[in-house]
Amino acid sequence: MRPGLKLLLSTTIIWAASPAFAQHVPTALSDATAHPAKWPTAGSQGLTDPATEKFVTDLMATMTLEEKVGQMIQADIGAMKPEELRQYPLGSILAGGSSPPLGAPDRSPQMPWVETAKAFRAVAMEPRGKHAPIPLIFGIDAVHGNSNVVGATVFPHNIGLGAMRDPALMRRIGKATAEETAATGPDWAFGPTLTVPQDDRWGRAYEGYSEDPAIVRSYAGEMVLGLQGAPGTKDRIQKGYVAASAKHFLGDGGTLGGVDQGDAQVSEDELIAIHAQGYVPAIQAGSLTVMASFSSWNGAKMHGNKSLLTDVLKGRMGFQGFVVGDWNGHGQVTGCTITDCPATFNAGLDMAMAPDGWKGLFESTVRHARDGTIPMSRIDDAVRRILRVKVKLGLFDPARPFEGKAGVLGNPEHRAIAREAVAKSLVLLKNQGVLPIKASANVLVAGPGADSMGQQTGGWTLSWQGDGNSNADFPNGQTIYSGIAEAVKTGGGTATLSADGSFTAKPDVAIVVFGEQPYAEMRGDIATLEFQPGDKQALALLRKLKAAGVPTVSVFLSGRPLWVNPELNASDAFVAAWLPGSEGAGVADVLIGDKAGKPRKDFRGTLSFSWPKTAGQFTLNKGKPGYDPLFALGYGLSYARPGKVAALSEVPGFDAAALNTSIYFAKGVAPKPFAFAAEANVTRAPIDGPQTQEGAQQLNWTGGPARLSIGGASPINLSRETNGDLSLQLIYRLDRAATGPVTLSMGEGKGFDATSLFTGETGNWRTVKILLKCYQQSGSDMNAVGAPVVVRAAAPLSFSLADARIVSDPANSICPGSK
Ligand code: BGC
Ligand code: BGC
Repeated sequence: MRPGLKLLLSTTIIWAASPAFAQHVPTALSDATAHPAKWPTAGSQGLTDPATEKFVTDLMATMTLEEKVGQMIQADIGAMKPEELRQYPLGSILAGGSSPPLGAPDRSPQMPWVETAKAFRAVAMEPRGKHAPIPLIFGIDAVHGNSNVVGATVFPHNIGLGAMRDPALMRRIGKATAEETAATGPDWAFGPTLTVPQDDRWGRAYEGYSEDPAIVRSYAGEMVLGLQGAPGTKDRIQKGYVAASAKHFLGDGGTLGGVDQGDAQVSEDELIAIHAQGYVPAIQAGSLTVMASFSSWNGAKMHGNKSLLTDVLKGRMGFQGFVVGDWNGHGQVTGCTITDCPATFNAGLDMAMAPDGWKGLFESTVRHARDGTIPMSRIDDAVRRILRVKVKLGLFDPARPFEGKAGVLGNPEHRAIAREAVAKSLVLLKNQGVLPIKASANVLVAGPGADSMGQQTGGWTLSWQGDGNSNADFPNGQTIYSGIAEAVKTGGGTATLSADGSFTAKPDVAIVVFGEQPYAEMRGDIATLEFQPGDKQALALLRKLKAAGVPTVSVFLSGRPLWVNPELNASDAFVAAWLPGSEGAGVADVLIGDKAGKPRKDFRGTLSFSWPKTAGQFTLNKGKPGYDPLFALGYGLSYARPGKVAALSEVPGFDAAALNTSIYFAKGVAPKPFAFAAEANVTRAPIDGPQTQEGAQQLNWTGGPARLSIGGASPINLSRETNGDLSLQLIYRLDRAATGPVTLSMGEGKGFDATSLFTGETGNWRTVKILLKCYQQSGSDMNAVGAPVVVRAAAPLSFSLADARIVSDPANSICPGSK
């Protein structure tokens, strides 16, 4: 048994323990310079023409340096007031995933958004300088419909769309999304996401259409055309089109270990062959913008990579729109902070996304332009690109016929498109004769996802992570249960909702809807592909129904393929439904047949991500050595193409619990043995933990005030985790209640009063999750955390610590000592 405390410090352990590790040994670590001649050519269509260029030239001739720099900076509406645009003539605003419209809640319908757009625009369009006012461009994450807005049509997340293999439908989805975006005020959607995820542990896997670059390539141009209209379209915003942003350039889906914002340690050939494929058609279709990736390529942050942003993207690939940064991504470039980063502009970034640091970044960038650190030619190039896009979108024309228009958000045509997409995205993994279900059947609809708009829509919906959404937040949506109920009603059947699967009259069949809870970037990263490791609630439900003699149909809601062999064994039919969005009825369209049991619609979805045979097949991608999936890319049964699935092994093949690690704790920092440092009056001894022999350390404060710290590795930066509402989880047992005040901090911070955590009942293991924000608020420097666990106690106390790790569970986290 492993003695001692597990202080879980690094992701590196995961890689070492992973079977995929051998395939992942970096080859050319130091090489982060691209060779443009190797890259495909593309060429922006419809972005330049003599009249536009002349307009831009004339305008620029009258602009001050401050006005030019302003164009290059984007602020978040949550961190800027419209009036501030008078002093700071910024070119753009965004609404981040957690940024509500002005003076309104995060989950707001159309009109507060419209008012917000108008309020900012009104100030931007006040007369200033020697020229006509320059319109703002307002961006939002309309990544599966205009999904930040209550009442919008929410389309399936990209992973589901990839399963449809229907490029033409992508264009219709793009147009509907554009109209619903323009109707609420923004003129720019931060999509399509052209990532090609290679490691399914990544929390953004579902934002990608496929692990297969060919599928991404077949969709990219169509989505851009849907959002923006054909190249050369005039008066786009007036016609209900918005600007697209192909993202995240480049290699976001290739990071080692599937770590969000991590490092893609791949060769240049692989970067081209896998990750760059979607950008060729997106640029050709005239994508007005491209977003730089948070991630690195071979150790160098994309936001600072001139060879890729300038030489490849703008040079070789002929991209003539502008490159926008990602959320403070510039601040991660070596030598930069969020308020000071000439390197990113010199590398080719045209507009920095500086949500909260915009003021400082504006001032420092003006200074760098003045003293030549950023050459004037670079500033002029960036501004020209931005103004060109604004012209091409029609923003200089004040008419906004779509903005505020009634009957656009969630209208029947858009919802019908989404419902069609849901039906087409379903992938039938197994069917032992139970599907389709007769419309005359009595159906039990069970599982936590059956009647949950929040679960079926997932992350990037109404809130950043998609957590906390209730059915009432989707006035135009329909749950999967409700769709089933409607379908069986037509045939004289019944649908009974019973989340826990209990029933009084035995049903003919049960449809059990379960899967992942909503998540988005960072928080969605996981350590194993096992579904519900250790806590197999869905499996228990399926088995209970089977034991009662009820045939089971599983509808699995997930943002990635997961190891579900036990659940597959316990199901008579199993459907991968991904994150279908607001139109749950699309599920019933395929599962429920007519009265006689003839299908109304057949399955047509096929896997766009390979399905794992073990929980450790993190990087399971077609064409890669050792490819041995349970269901290969392209797999999918249908009523016309039935197939058998034999009983599957229920050994996961990978034990995440043995990893001693948290994926969030330290990004890429090599594991160091944790160290205890205690002042006199604290003793320590190994004892048995809740799970393992000698799996904890007993810590005794024997006298007066003393401090104990655990850490000792080089300082780690937890600022992003803090921003992302992550928590420090402690598993401990109180052995002797505190007899005086106790504080907790990270590093040298003053800390907060945590006495309440060390009083009360002794002798039982407790789990507590403390928001990192509490540490920050009480003075800990989250940018450089030396010791993540520092305990100060004024008087005798004794407790045993078994585990400390960074977790994501904001709803169940606390801030001790604060009201
Ligand atoms: C914002 C998101 C953003 C994220 C990045 C959140 O607070 O709402 O839009 O993507 O931070 O850290
Ligand atoms: C994400 C982007 C998103 C941006 C704005 C970032 O954290 O990586 O995909 O567009 O925030 O919300």
